[in-house]
Amino acid sequence: MFDIPIKKGFISGTPNEIHLTWDILQDIWKSCDKGAWSGETGVSTGQKTLDLHTYKEFDWIISQMMPYVIEYWDNDLGYVPADIRPVASWANYHTDGDYTQEHSHSAGIRQAHVASVFYLKKGEGGDIEFCDPLDHIRRFTPLARSVDDAILSQSMPSLTSDFFLFPGWLRHRTQPAVGRRVSISINFNANVI
Ligand SMILES: [Fe+2]
Repeated sequence: MFDIPIKKGFISGTPNEIHLTWDILQDIWKSCDKGAWSGETGVSTGQKTLDLHTYKEFDWIISQMMPYVIEYWDNDLGYVPADIRPVASWANYHTDGDYTQEHSHSAGIRQAHVASVFYLKKGEGGDIEFCDPLDHIRRFTPLARSVDDAILSQSMPSLTSDFFLFPGWLRHRTQPAVGRRVSISINFNANVI
């Protein structure tokens, strides 16, 4: 009942495209601090810039994902046709034990219609978990702040080059990483045309 549409896909870059993306990310991460970006225990370019989608080194990612975003908008979410644009993006670098706290991409004036994550590199573990918006109803009780009160969720396994598209309001988090993990979050907004 009330299933949430989440799309999983796969894109690939040439070795040179992937190499150049790694290079610029490592340049930005050098000036970032571990745990400085909201909800992150790892390093995030969000501390310095939220506009990775405007860098030429990310064109191969954006250009391949946009058709999937439009298809997701039109067919999975069933919204009216709209002019969908990437509006914010950042990349997180996780090593052993790092994780992302539970959050959504909608808060106050920051409302992402469609959120996404693309794995430039995905080690073991660190899978994204999508939280069940009906948690309180399924439990039939408010949370009591005990250790077993983590919001019910579904873990989504993924590999390098996979991506997920999901509604910006859907809360999510990650399990602790094992090895290296580079996830690039891209947020999309839309104007009705
Ligand atoms: Fe997120």
